[in-house]
Amino acid sequence: MTAPSPLTSAEGTTGRDEWVLDPAKRHLNHGSYGAVPRRTLEHQAALKRELERNPLRWFDSLPERLAAERAALAPFLGSPAHELAVIPNASAGASTVLASTRFEPGDEILVTDHVYGAVLMAAERAARRDGGVVRAVGIPLAAGSEETLELITGAVGPRTRMLIVDHVSSATARAFPVEELVAALEGSGVTIVVDGAHTPGLLDSPARVAGRSDGVVWFGNLHKFASAPRAAAVLVARGETAARLYPPIDSWGATLDYPERFDQQGTNDVTGFLSASYGIAELERLFGWQRIRDYAADLAAYAASIIAPALEALQDVPARPHVGMAQPAQPLLRLPDGIVTDGASQRVLKNRLSAEADVEAGIMVWRGQGFLRISAHAYNVAADYEQFVERGIPVIASMARSGASHSPAR
Ligand SMILES: Cc1ncc(COP(=O)(O)O)c(C=O)c1O
Repeated sequence: MTAPSPLTSAEGTTGRDEWVLDPAKRHLNHGSYGAVPRRTLEHQAALKRELERNPLRWFDSLPERLAAERAALAPFLGSPAHELAVIPNASAGASTVLASTRFEPGDEILVTDHVYGAVLMAAERAARRDGGVVRAVGIPLAAGSEETLELITGAVGPRTRMLIVDHVSSATARAFPVEELVAALEGSGVTIVVDGAHTPGLLDSPARVAGRSDGVVWFGNLHKFASAPRAAAVLVARGETAARLYPPIDSWGATLDYPERFDQQGTNDVTGFLSASYGIAELERLFGWQRIRDYAADLAAYAASIIAPALEALQDVPARPHVGMAQPAQPLLRLPDGIVTDGASQRVLKNRLSAEADVEAGIMVWRGQGFLRISAHAYNVAADYEQFVERGIPVIASMARSGASHSPAR
C-alpha cells in the first residue's frame, strides 16, 4: 500500500509547518494530550496579554466572551449552544455528573471493561459515597455494534441508575453504539453518560447524541483531535438532566441556569477554551476538517500496513486484532505478549521508545495485553511511522528477547 502525500494547506504550508512540535521526535500519539497549532498558540498568547494588561476588565468581560465561544463551538460539536457547558477536561465532565447525582444504597453504575481508568475511579468513589455499586460488563474487542448493544442492554438491571459508556474508548480505540443505546434505553430511567473525550474533531458533530434524549450527558475534550489549547472541554445535556448539573467548582455562577453557571469556576485561566473555536476555524480554512479526517485515516492505514508485519516478525501472533467499530484514524496493533502488561511496563516501553527511537507512541494496556494505538493527524507523514519500524521495532524486539516487563516505572 502506498502512503498518502503529505497534506498541504490553502496557504501552501504543510501540516508540520503549522504545529510547533519538537522536530527531533516523531509524534505518533495525538490521542493522549493532543498538540496545538502555532496560529492557535499565537491567538491564545494575545488573549493572555490582554488579560494581563487589565485583569479586572478581562474577568468582568468573561461571561460575554464565554457565551460567544459556546455559540461558536456549537456547530462543530453538533449541539445547540444553550445545551453546551464549559468544563476544563473530560475528567471534570465525569466528576460533574457523578457529583450531581445521588444514588440510593444498592443502586448500580454500569460501565464496560473499556472504561477510562480515571473515570472508573470517579464512579467507584461516587458509588462508595452513597452505598451504591459499580458493575463492569465485558465487551469483546471484536464485538460489533449489534453484539455490543445486546451485551450492554442485557446487563442493565432493575437497580441500574447510570450507564457510563465510551463514545470512543482510550485503551482499545473503538467506538460504541451510543445512538442505539440511547434509543434502546429511552424511558428506562437510566442516565446515559457518554464519555466522548476522544471525539471532537475525530467525529463529525460528536455531541449530537446528547440531543436524542433528556437522559443523556455527553462530554468531550477539545484538546485532543480538535487541537485546542488545554484546558478546554465541553459537557452537553438538556432538560431535567441539565437542570441538575452543577460545575465541579462552586462559584459565583451557582444561582444561574445551566449552562451559564459553568462559565464561572472561580478565578480560572480560560484563554485555552477561548482559543478553541479560533483554532478549529483556522484548521478548517487551512486544511478542512473532513480532509484532515480522511488523510488521518489513509495515513493510519499505511502505518498499520508497515508496522503490523514488523511486529509479527517478533512473535507468531497476528498483530492486527479484529476490532469491532474500529476508528479509521486510530488502528490498534497487538504488541508481543509479556512486554506490556500493566501501567508500569507501559511507561517503560513509552520511555524507551522516546529515548532510544525518538518516537512518542501511544502504548496501551487492556486486559493485561499491550497494544500500540496508532494515531495520525494533519502534521504526521509516512516517515513518522517508517521511523517507528526502523528504530522503534528494535526496542520492542530487545524487550521481547529479555522477557521484558520488570524495570521500574518512572
Ligand atoms: C476515554 C477518556 N475519558 C476520559 C479521559 C480524561 O481526559 P482528561 O485527562 O483530559 O480529563 C481520557 C483521556 O485521555 C480518555 O481517553
